Amino acid sequence: MSVRGRLVHSVARTDLDSATEFANDVRYYLGLSPRQLPSRYLYDALGSALFDAICELPWYGIPRAEARLLEEYRDDIFAALDRVTTVVELGPGRGEKLRALVEARPSQTDILTIHLIDVSQAALVASARALGELEDILIVAHEAPYEVGLEELSQRTRAGGATLTLFLGSNIGNFDRPGAEAFLRTMRAALVPGDALLLGTDLVKSERDLLLAYDDPLGVTAAFNRNLLVRINRELGGHFDINAFDHRAVWNAAESRMEMHLVAQAAHRVRIDGVDLEIDFGSGEPIWTESSYKYHPDEVVELVGRAGFQCLMQWIDRSSSFALTLFHAT
Ligand code: TRP
Repeated sequence: MSVRGRLVHSVARTDLDSATEFANDVRYYLGLSPRQLPSRYLYDALGSALFDAICELPWYGIPRAEARLLEEYRDDIFAALDRVTTVVELGPGRGEKLRALVEARPSQTDILTIHLIDVSQAALVASARALGELEDILIVAHEAPYEVGLEELSQRTRAGGATLTLFLGSNIGNFDRPGAEAFLRTMRAALVPGDALLLGTDLVKSERDLLLAYDDPLGVTAAFNRNLLVRINRELGGHFDINAFDHRAVWNAAESRMEMHLVAQAAHRVRIDGVDLEIDFGSGEPIWTESSYKYHPDEVVELVGRAGFQCLMQWIDRSSSFALTLFHAT
C-alpha cells in the first residue's frame, strides 16, 4: 500500500483557550520583577515570518549548521536505530529539516507516523505541506504547547517499532538548565526504552558572533522581538508605543546564555485594556523576553543523560558552533 503524506488528524485548541492563556500570562509575567514575557508568544503569524527571515540572516548560523549536519549524517542516524515507525518533532519550523531526515529513512515497508507539535498553526501548516509529497507517511498535527502535545502523545496506542523524537534548532536553549532537565524528563516519559531523541544544541562561541546572531545589523531580530508588543496591542488592546522600546541582546557569560530584552527608553505608563492593567515603566527598565542558553558538547551528554537517555553519537559542525546528538531512551 502506498499512501501520500496526508494530515489524518489534527488536535487544535479553541481560539478562546489560547486568548485566555495569553491574557493570563501577560498579566502574570509583566507583573514579575524583573518584568518578563514568555518567549513562545513571539511566534504569531508575523513573528513566525520574521523568525523565518532570521533563519536566512548570514549572522544566525544555527539553521545552516544544523541542516548540514543532518544532511551529512542522516543515514548514520537511521543506521544506529531500530525500526523507526514514529517520528515526533517539537517545533518543526517549516518542516524542511524533518523532510530531509524522513527522506533518508531506509525501508519503505512501514507507514511512518509523524507527530508535529507546535503552538504556531502557520508552522504546522507549512510543515505538513513540506512533508505532503512524501509517500507512506501519516501526519498528526498537535496545535499545542510542547507539554500538552507530549501528554497527548503518551496517551496514544503505540504501533510496533521505535519512536524518534526530534528537538532541533537549539530550542532546548530556551529553557534554563533546571527547566531543560525537567523538560527532557517530560520527553523521556512519552518514550519507552529503545526509542530515540535527536537533539540540536547551539554551542558556546565568541561573544562577537553571539551578539551578531541576536542583534543583527538589518534589525530583523529587533523587529521579531518588538513584534511581541505589536501582538499585545492587537490581541489584548494594549497601548504600547513600539518606538519607545529598544531591542537589547546581552551575553551573560556566568549563566552561559544570551538574554533578549525590550528596554523602555524613558519612564512612561502603558495601558492594556484587555487585561485591565496599567504598567509604569521606569527609564531603561527591561522586559525579559527570551534566554538562549549555549552549551559545551559534553555538557549536553551529561544533562540529557540525567533525564534517562544514553548518548549514541554526537556530531559537531566544522566551525564547532553547533552539535547534533543522538540518544537512546534507557
Ligand atoms: N530559539 C531561537 C534561539 O534561541 C529564538 C531566537 C532567535 C530569538 N533570535 C531571537 C528569540 C531573538 C528572541 C529574540 O536562537
